[in-house]
Amino acid sequence: MSADRFGPGSHLLVTGGAGFIGSCFVRDVLARDDGTRLTVLDNLTYAGNEANLRPALDQPGQAARLRFVRGDIADPEVVGPLVADADAVLNFAAESHVDRSILDPEAFLRTGVIGVHVLLDACRREAARLASGERRTPAGDPRPAPRYLQVSTDEVYGSVETGESVESDPLAPRSPYAASKAAGELLVRSYVVTHGIDAVVTRGSNTYGPYHHPEKLIPLFITNALEDQPLPLYGDGLQQRDWLYVSDHAGAIDWVLRQGRSGETYNIPGAAEMTNRAVVALLLEILDKPWSLVRTVEDRPGHDRRYALDGTRLAALGWHNTVDFADGLRRTVDWFRANEDWWRAIKAGDWDAYYERQYGRRLAASSAASLNPAASSAVSLNPAASSAVSLNPAGSTAAD
Ligand code: NAD
Ligand code: TYD
Repeated sequence: MSADRFGPGSHLLVTGGAGFIGSCFVRDVLARDDGTRLTVLDNLTYAGNEANLRPALDQPGQAARLRFVRGDIADPEVVGPLVADADAVLNFAAESHVDRSILDPEAFLRTGVIGVHVLLDACRREAARLASGERRTPAGDPRPAPRYLQVSTDEVYGSVETGESVESDPLAPRSPYAASKAAGELLVRSYVVTHGIDAVVTRGSNTYGPYHHPEKLIPLFITNALEDQPLPLYGDGLQQRDWLYVSDHAGAIDWVLRQGRSGETYNIPGAAEMTNRAVVALLLEILDKPWSLVRTVEDRPGHDRRYALDGTRLAALGWHNTVDFADGLRRTVDWFRANEDWWRAIKAGDWDAYYERQYGRRLAASSAASLNPAASSAVSLNPAASSAVSLNPAGSTAAD
């Protein structure tokens, strides 16, 4: 695989590019100013937001290399011509919130299964056009078929009580969201095997950072805390996630696009494994807000206890994350403080109905969350010490 194929002058189709991680990819690639052109295809669900692309659109040099198409990845009429004109297709589009997949799973299947199928089928057609000599550059040379990159998640492994998931582990999704992502991956593999398309899959860890939709743990708790509103912590709060800063996630995806081997899957870990309690304690410390805001609420059904990824394969490609958790969290809080208009616009309109459905009954029945000394004592703003919050299963059970 030549890195030049996706370098200056190349044209990338970024589906779901108005969402949290996709828009970071778009902003970061355009900011490189290396001539790469991007088309974003996004149907702007409640989670899609053109404002996420504003920093690029406000720079004429970047805006000239960005095209936005509002449309559905499950619509072959829209997808076909865009894939025909692309050197690579990066599929970030998905319904991405586990809680919503419990309330309303259907959209997850439409985008995560039918949508992925439509994109893959368009890539298959381009491979066939290349084989028949129809797919050519304007100069008349054969133009390689697009590489397809499926943005997937660590949640396809299911809950991992001990150790770290490696890419060859079985898929064992436990939420409708995770099941839809696993289904998408299986379709990708089937197109590689059956039709020989060029495709790679990434499985990223829990991601956080600027432009994160306030339905998710970290931005929900930041924005609620800024307004002195309750912070609804599910169950005992000792679930563990491995946090990955958004620009590291987007950068790793770009790296895999350029360096990854076709047919291969790559974990993208964060190297900041923490209990939810520890994350919240650190957040409150940065925000200078009291632990008394935290409410223990009824747990999420089927709540995965822990995700953890082995990153050996990605490291062997030469990728390393650059942002540690304490620094990333501070940057995230700063961004939310400085961008109130952005999150207040989202926490208006349909938000109240969602919030009431998800949290109304839970908060009415909630109790004050005890400050867990074992979890919180491991928390520090000192980056060097942040590895101290890594998993200690024995300690965490005893802690509650
Ligand atoms: P997001 O919900 O912020 O963004 C999803 C984007 O996809 C939105 O802009 C939405 O409008 C668009 N979209 C949804 N359905 C579409 C459709 N049918 N056609 C066109 N566009 C559509 O999600 P995110 O957090 O940015 O996640 C991006 C990808 O990364 C997803 O595939 C998700 O599964 C994966 N992922 C996310 C995380 C995380 O922690 N956020 C971690 C690992 C993997
Ligand atoms: P979330 O951000 O929804 O990501 P995911 O479910 O994909 O891991 O949640 C992160 C963790 O925080 C997860 O263990 C669920 C928990 N959580 C809460 O305790 N309260 C909340 O209100 C939310 C949204 C999440």
